[in-house]
Amino acid sequence: MASTHGAEVLVASNRGPVSYEVREDGSLHAKRGGGGLVSGLSAIGPHTDAVWVCAALSDADREAVRRSPGGRCLSLDATGGQQVRMLDIDATVHSDAYNGIANSVLWFVHHMLYQTPLEPVFDAEFRRQWASYQAYNRAFAEALAEEAAEDAAVMIQDYHLALAPRMLRQLRPDLRIGHFSHTPWAPPDYFRLLPDDIAAELLGGILGADRAAFLTRRWADAFTDCCHAVLGPGIPSGTRIGVHGLGADADFLRGRSHEPDVDERMAALRAEIGAGRKTVVRVDRTELSKNIVRGLLAYRQLLEDRPEWRERVVHVAFAYPSRQDLAVYREYTTEVQQVADEINSRYGTVGWTPVVLHVKDDFARSLAAYRLADVALVNPIRDGMNLVAKEIPVVSDEGCVLVLSREAGAHEELGEDAITVNPYDVVGTANALHQALTMPQDERAERTKRLVAAATALPPAQWFLDQLHALDPHYSS
Ligand code: F6P
Repeated sequence: MASTHGAEVLVASNRGPVSYEVREDGSLHAKRGGGGLVSGLSAIGPHTDAVWVCAALSDADREAVRRSPGGRCLSLDATGGQQVRMLDIDATVHSDAYNGIANSVLWFVHHMLYQTPLEPVFDAEFRRQWASYQAYNRAFAEALAEEAAEDAAVMIQDYHLALAPRMLRQLRPDLRIGHFSHTPWAPPDYFRLLPDDIAAELLGGILGADRAAFLTRRWADAFTDCCHAVLGPGIPSGTRIGVHGLGADADFLRGRSHEPDVDERMAALRAEIGAGRKTVVRVDRTELSKNIVRGLLAYRQLLEDRPEWRERVVHVAFAYPSRQDLAVYREYTTEVQQVADEINSRYGTVGWTPVVLHVKDDFARSLAAYRLADVALVNPIRDGMNLVAKEIPVVSDEGCVLVLSREAGAHEELGEDAITVNPYDVVGTANALHQALTMPQDERAERTKRLVAAATALPPAQWFLDQLHALDPHYSS
């Protein structure tokens, strides 16, 4: 199956670098996505041919695949010439794999989100969805096998595609295969909630790669602990383990956050906040692991315990809808809104809205909030890294104090200069907010300087090249 004219470097992920919408006149409009992978891959630029294999996620994406030449590679202005191959996977198979297995089971296991009454039930429906997860992974493996040149480097991303490395290895033993986990990895006792055969298949899938990489040493160690617990001692395939702590893209963020649309949104936000008030800023997808509700409860506790902060602080909370196909996410979105409303009606006054909550995704407005942040609140229950924790100190105009969960991957690098919180401890988080709001300016400036240095130590381009180099020394950085 090896193609002599195929790509030398391939990336595979569920969500690709572009998404489409169909305009009223029937034309297709492509929108470029953001994130570390997109800017990382652009770093290899002219050095090599590269192809990004991803899934079609909407009807418009499917339409784009149908209209593309030969239904295969799409070369798009929106991707900066990047070749993208979107897979039109059967909609039910995709939904089973993405909503059913990846987001309702694997996400919950790695973020340790199960709790009564939401407990795992691995029944016949789960097994049916598992077959879809296998088929979805197989579709990626087959597409990658078709697209890759002899000895190409293939970088497979995340928990959606845990089986693809082994499947690809069987199809194309010549390839250098890497797998990267953007999530935490569960410790063995929690991972073994999964049925034994499924746990073994997931680990064996990733062990089909030459290298399995993680965002922190903690997640890498948890993976090897799971291998020992489920598969027995030693990593049988000889898969190498790597750690690459993705950092913030300082050049991009600093440039983008001073563009006119961000200035406009700063003016609007300042009007909402009111003059002379401090800000506690958070920006998240509305995601259970992000712990937004406990963050709001901590802010409420601050206002309750320390009335001197009333009228003097505003919690700017941006919670952007995510995974709305899942009932548990829809319910969480409603709860966030309700708690914010309850705080505003209980403490708000004519001239002061204690919580400014926005739910419509707007990147320029997120950057405006970053610039205005006095305190950044990042309190996830568990998080692979959390780039917001790295981005806010880089962008904030006056420097900011970071209140950071010890369970975020970013804590490994930023913990010394942040104020650390236990994400379940609402009173402790309220006290941390008070400490952050009262930190002397010179200490805040010193800490911000060190936070920025740590947050930008491994920018996306270098993060990507380091992995490529580790997989194939031919791609030197
Ligand atoms: O953290 C894992 C991850 O897949 C990220 O790479 C991504 O930003 C996030 O989850 C969003 O996931 P989704 O594609 O489901 O919106």
